[in-house]
Amino acid sequence: MSTIEFCHISKEYGPRRVLQDLDVSLDTGECTVILGKSGCGKTTFLRLLAGLEEPSSGTLKRPAGLKLGMMFQEARLFPWLTCRQNIALGLPRRADPGEVDHWLQLVQLTDAADQYPHQLSGGMQQRASLARTLAMHSQLILMDEPFAALDYFTRAQLQQELRTMQQQLKRGIVLVTHNVDEALALGDRLLILRQGRFAREMHLPPGTRDLLSPELIKAKRSLLAALA
Ligand SMILES: Nc1ncnc2c1ncn2[C@@H]1O[C@H](COP(=O)(O)OP(=O)(O)OP(=O)(O)O)[C@@H](O)[C@H]1O
Ligand SMILES: [Mg+2]
Repeated sequence: MSTIEFCHISKEYGPRRVLQDLDVSLDTGECTVILGKSGCGKTTFLRLLAGLEEPSSGTLKRPAGLKLGMMFQEARLFPWLTCRQNIALGLPRRADPGEVDHWLQLVQLTDAADQYPHQLSGGMQQRASLARTLAMHSQLILMDEPFAALDYFTRAQLQQELRTMQQQLKRGIVLVTHNVDEALALGDRLLILRQGRFAREMHLPPGTRDLLSPELIKAKRSLLAALA
């Protein structure tokens, strides 16, 4: 098992301290969800993890050669490429180009394969972006509010697919969200980010999740109280 270590990491933007002395170790084989309100520093945390940003102080240790894939808060598709071509860009060089069909099907975009991003709805663009990220075969996928633009049912379905896939392929995920249900549906480990620190931690059992089960309703109450 490999880990990513945040050792006393702080991040400031001018006088504003966004993350304060974070000391946490993330297991790259599980799904870690960082849960927090808007503006609490979730995207900043992911950007530090991805190496897109440097901490103001502290050190971050990543396993050598760890292959990271990142799905941003916005879809970031190339407007001059079709849906299929955008997803194909994610494939590693040696992968079978036919794999694109599998990813298109998984995110239910087979019928939209030859359309350009401007012809897709916001949710469809986000699904294409998800497929492109999954196609990368990365060991660890970083996801920033990946399902924010989706309707309830599509979101629930993709969360289920992602969870099954993560457990089967043993890929790690670090996902940030402000959505408590999403955290409960996907996370093996939940960390609540509040006022720059991890205020609370929760571990959830493996397997699929029934958000309406008494255990998860209880967990949701407790998370909402910790966030408030
Ligand atoms: N490049 C930057 N320069 C200055 N301030 C920044 C920068 N990036 C983020 N911030 C500030 O850091 C704080 C945390 O921002 P961040 O984007 O990490 O929040 P978030 O938790 O992802 O929010 P949301 O849920 O709305 O996406 C905000 O107050 C934001 O204004
Ligand atoms: Mg954000």
